Amino acid sequence: MEIKNLEQRHYSDVSRIYQQAIDAGNITLATKTSPWESWDNDHLKNMRFVALEDNAVIGWVALSPVLQRTGYHGVTELSIYIDENHHGKGIGNMLMQHIIDSSEQAGIWTIMSFIFPENDKSIALHKKFGFNHLGTQHKSAQLKGVWMDNCILERRSTIIL
Ligand SMILES: CC(C)(COP(=O)(O)OP(=O)(O)OC[C@H]1O[C@@H](n2cnc3c(N)ncnc32)[C@H](O)[C@@H]1OP(=O)(O)O)[C@@H](O)C(=O)NCCC(=O)NCCS
Repeated sequence: MEIKNLEQRHYSDVSRIYQQAIDAGNITLATKTSPWESWDNDHLKNMRFVALEDNAVIGWVALSPVLQRTGYHGVTELSIYIDENHHGKGIGNMLMQHIIDSSEQAGIWTIMSFIFPENDKSIALHKKFGFNHLGTQHKSAQLKGVWMDNCILERRSTIIL
């Protein structure tokens, strides 16, 4: 397994893996994947990585800005998605460690995630890497007409001070 920068040529696999999470029905609010131009615009250019096995994309991780206001440029939101055929093999661990290390090297001080309470695997992964559960928003969004709660998790770097 190797980790490379996520480039446009990887995007069909990135969106295929994201579609698996959409199809699962309880992981993301998205109902369809985005075109490359939109995804490219929404995510930080230097904080997007793929995990490759035999040159095939088996997972990805990326950060996007949370607020555009002055002073908040080091606050980001995480997306991490592993191909469902490769869950439980340590890929999430490796991508999470990589994005934390890369983000701290780039001066990013906060990574946030908004996770549905039922996504226990993702919550466990985040807590393992030092994310704190700040609280839960109740009935904060609708997924196909159903109210969803959202756990807010945050990892504040102890290096960028
Ligand atoms: C959540 C996800 C990223 C974890 O990736 P993964 O490659 O399967 O996870 P790993 O094998 O690297 O395990 C990493 C940690 O995740 C947690 N985890 C993984 N599988 C788990 C399971 N079945 N039950 C509970 N915790 C689990 C554990 O904390 C684990 O740490 P450990 O290795 O010390 O046990 C992956 O399951 C996934 O892509 N899920 C669908 C998309 C998603 O939920 N993304 C996050 C949206 S907020």
